Amino acid sequence: MNKDFLSILDISREELINLIAHARKLKEERKVGVHTPVLAHKTLGMIFEKSSTRTRISFETGMYELGGHALFLNPKDMQLGRGEAIRDTARVMSRFVSAIMIRASRHDEVIEFATHSDIPVINGLSDREHPCQTLADIMTINEWLFRTEGIRVAWIGDGNNVCTSLILSTILTGMEVIIASPSEFAPKNEIVSEALRMGAKVRVVTDPGVAAADADVIMTDTWISMGQEEEVEQRKKIFMPYQVNSDLMSKAKPGAIVMHCLPAHRNWEITDEVIDSKRSAVWDQAENRLHIQKALLVRLLA
Ligand code: CP
Repeated sequence: MNKDFLSILDISREELINLIAHARKLKEERKVGVHTPVLAHKTLGMIFEKSSTRTRISFETGMYELGGHALFLNPKDMQLGRGEAIRDTARVMSRFVSAIMIRASRHDEVIEFATHSDIPVINGLSDREHPCQTLADIMTINEWLFRTEGIRVAWIGDGNNVCTSLILSTILTGMEVIIASPSEFAPKNEIVSEALRMGAKVRVVTDPGVAAADADVIMTDTWISMGQEEEVEQRKKIFMPYQVNSDLMSKAKPGAIVMHCLPAHRNWEITDEVIDSKRSAVWDQAENRLHIQKALLVRLLA
């Protein structure tokens, strides 16, 4: 396995299968109170340039349950926030902690951290990718639908960072992704072309009904990511035809599931009726962040 986990493609298909198998074992063990301290005396430094609920809590709890420790670091409270170079911070942190998880505005910053760290660096969300989320999403699809090969996922809404990791993941999973976005919010052409060259199964359309037709999974995300708050009214107007509601769900396969990586704006990108329905895998999807990241931490650190 690579030193770092910055992109979903930093693992192979075989490594993904092994991570999911380990995560499922950890999930079962946790249910009966079994916690093996394989990461005793290891510390994860967690740098959050942006807010987080799931990523912070799942990594911190995960490290604790594995016998290790996690440090929450706000760049504003570090010299990083006063202009200390990323490369210097990375070198110094490498002398103190065992791994770094970073949520950064720019993917370049995550790469710079990894380049200058002697220890593993995990991307906890950047403007390019959210690979930890995609690991949990793949685990969840496996749990609910028992396979990924041939699964058709309809991504409805913003072609954002989570969408990029999902597109790239089809190279590992054999899933097919059809993205329905307003044209100005479609995933970047260069990302889609590069993914197709590498063997991804991805198609981009503008009609959400076309994407949802015969889908096994309907997946969506917020229309307003962190830092886009000033565009709320404009985005709401553009994205409203992309709402995941009962009408859109009726176009998918019977038994199709719905997923959302959260946080959700209820009744904007997804209605109450759908997120709270029996077809909603959303809460398992959130929980699985914990289990799959524990498996990832063990793989990188044990
Ligand atoms: N899905 C996700 O990354 O959630 P947080 O922003 O709460 O970490």
